[in-house]
Amino acid sequence: MNKYQLTKEVIELKDETIKIRRDIHKNPELGFQEFKTSELIYNTLKELGYEVSIVAKTGVVGLIRGHDQTKTLAVRADIDCLPLQELNQVDYISQNEGKMHACGHDGHTAIALATAKLIKSRQSELKGNVKFIFQPAEESPGGAEPMIKEGVLENPKVDAIIGLHLWNNIPLGTLGIKSGILMASADEFIINIKGKGGHGALPHQTVDSIVVMAHIITALQTIVSRNVNPLEPAVVTVGKVESGSNFNIIAESAKMIGTVRTFDNDLRDQIEKKIEQITKNITQAFGADYSYQYIKFYPPTINDVYMASLIKEAALDVVSNDMILENEITMGAEDMSYFLQKVPGCYFFVGSANKEKGLDKPHHNPYFDFDEEALSIGTQVMTNAIFKYFER
Ligand code: NI
Repeated sequence: MNKYQLTKEVIELKDETIKIRRDIHKNPELGFQEFKTSELIYNTLKELGYEVSIVAKTGVVGLIRGHDQTKTLAVRADIDCLPLQELNQVDYISQNEGKMHACGHDGHTAIALATAKLIKSRQSELKGNVKFIFQPAEESPGGAEPMIKEGVLENPKVDAIIGLHLWNNIPLGTLGIKSGILMASADEFIINIKGKGGHGALPHQTVDSIVVMAHIITALQTIVSRNVNPLEPAVVTVGKVESGSNFNIIAESAKMIGTVRTFDNDLRDQIEKKIEQITKNITQAFGADYSYQYIKFYPPTINDVYMASLIKEAALDVVSNDMILENEITMGAEDMSYFLQKVPGCYFFVGSANKEKGLDKPHHNPYFDFDEEALSIGTQVMTNAIFKYFER
């Protein structure tokens, strides 16, 4: 008796799914350079009989039409690797120096391809359309936004989207399915302070940019502690400061860069403004000047309540209720968020850690690997969810 409720078809597909995952693992490619990965996906989908197209340089989209084409569900998988040297001792170790699938995107691609195969084999039962979106450059600089700009959510128009992440933060057999906020936004701010340099012994002739910077850094700490509702998570971190040249010189300028994380777009905008307000007023008080840049990267990842309940229902046919974690949340970021801003959907975590097998290293670690049993679980939940979506 299997621990998970897997269909005969998913069990039969297990070895092939593992093989595809390992092939991709051996040949990791960075964002927008996923040419071989993209080709493999393209050819696999083509052979299966999908309508296939290339979107956003290395992204691949495969469409299958159901008999009643009123609705279209998208399935998103990211395909890129990280700039990291793999240190695992496995026969499917990365063949590309300094590149590694250390986040599990090789698994996401394999799961989506296995799901595409299962859906094809049951096309006659399929009511609506399913659009498989293989997205490049999740790690950076982001492939979701360019795909949306090139119309991936149109023709046919996508009504909802689902996607998954293999997750070593939770054990194999568990699933993280949460409605509402799931992952944070991740932004960068850059502040340049322009004072007036001079002799370290003659401060009265200068505007000391380091002193100004110190006041700003201290004041920034009050944003989260004094301005943000304590029940709302937020982070303001100054990660790097640069200034000065010698012990007896008062620095002309100073620079600092940092990151802001939130789960809410309004709060994100408020913090962006607050940082500038603090910077502006402090520099003014000290007679300095400033420049301020706020770069918005990925928005918060927010799941739709209905779609999360659909995934949960699909998961309950695979694992028992106690294996579903409804509060797995992370301050990390994901560009799945761009899709979720456009259409309702659910992004969920598939537990992939197996401590006994030593497969529990963190994501982005040179020893990262996961229990491949998670591929079958992911495929099963995805497949169940697709059919449930059109049945509901
Ligand atoms: Ni990832």
